[in-house]
Amino acid sequence: MNAASEILMKQELSKEDIVSLLSLTNKEDHDTLIKKAYSIKESCVGKKDYVRGLIEFSNQCKKNCLYCGIRAGNTKVNRYSIPDEEILQVIEFAQKNKFTGIVLQSGEQNNIDFTKRITELIIKIKKATTPEFRITLSLGEQSFETYKEWFDAGAQRYLLRIEASDEELYKKIHPDNELHNYKTRLECLENTKRAGYQTGTGVMIGLPFQTIENLADDLLFIKKMNIDMVGMGPYLEHADTPLYKYKAMLLPLTERFNLSLRMIAVLRIMMPYINIAATTALQSIMPMGRERGLKAGANVLMPNLTPGKYRKSYLLYENKPCIDEEADECLDCLSHRVKMVGEEIAYDEFGDSKHFIKRKNN
Ligand code: 5AD
Ligand code: SF4
Ligand code: FES
Repeated sequence: MNAASEILMKQELSKEDIVSLLSLTNKEDHDTLIKKAYSIKESCVGKKDYVRGLIEFSNQCKKNCLYCGIRAGNTKVNRYSIPDEEILQVIEFAQKNKFTGIVLQSGEQNNIDFTKRITELIIKIKKATTPEFRITLSLGEQSFETYKEWFDAGAQRYLLRIEASDEELYKKIHPDNELHNYKTRLECLENTKRAGYQTGTGVMIGLPFQTIENLADDLLFIKKMNIDMVGMGPYLEHADTPLYKYKAMLLPLTERFNLSLRMIAVLRIMMPYINIAATTALQSIMPMGRERGLKAGANVLMPNLTPGKYRKSYLLYENKPCIDEEADECLDCLSHRVKMVGEEIAYDEFGDSKHFIKRKNN
């Protein structure tokens, strides 16, 4: 028996166990962990993967996260906001391609005009789609009232990554001011839940200053918060950001990639019924990165449906894939790749988090 199988026999993983699993760098142990997570995925959420189309509809952002390529301070970025009509065309494309939901993502803005625009956009999308079509929002920190207004307008899911659940680490990767406050972020995450959403969070993996203990605590945080959906992927440096100067501290890319797979695997074991996304950041390191994520326990794919002409302006990190592609190319590519690893896309399924359904029924 190898080190991984011994730990994996336990009913409940302690922090120490999680640290050990995340630290398994020899191939046999790593593979044992990944296989175990995949078998849990198969028996609890199935081998079919849910898809949601991602629309990065605006890169206007008032924040200055130290890791992010579209931070307000990066004056090299051409700022855009895709008009509603164009967003609705993407939604039409998504529905034609049997998508049962989309994710609306943008930089962070909060003012009355933005709130109203989103409310009206949600109403327009609801009118243009079947009643079951799911709208996920990823629009950062907002007031409870705003979260509620958007929920009442028809959005059902909200993604707000905690980025780093350790307050000290959070402070190291954000400017030290009120706009980037750990407690506010936590409160917002709780408020999305309180407003009624299926709630998603996540972290970046391989950040400068981050330890394996931090990552184990991230997983325990996700469990404690009883989260329904998770998106987490490797941190990827961007030359036009303040964190870039710590490049030399980072794990080599393949190690960051494998550590990300182990994070997904351990989380699947800890929370068998949640939805876990195989993120684009995995694909930036390796062309088959997302599919490897599916094999490690992830069950959600978010193909990019942002119209091609905007993609070069939404570079959160360097080497972001598909910046010269259009939505239809990414879709074809994705379905081929998913087939290559023996997985299937669950078209026509709404793919609500089973964890959320259980939570609501309790
Ligand atoms: N590397 C990896 N992920 C990043 N994000 C932002 N910048 C980076 C980066 N340099 C992630 C954050 C954010 C999400 C939209 O993108 O986790 O929540
Ligand atoms: Fe803005 Fe989000 Fe980038 Fe932070 S991570 S600067 S909130 S787009
Ligand atoms: Fe965009 Fe492969 S996913 S071209």
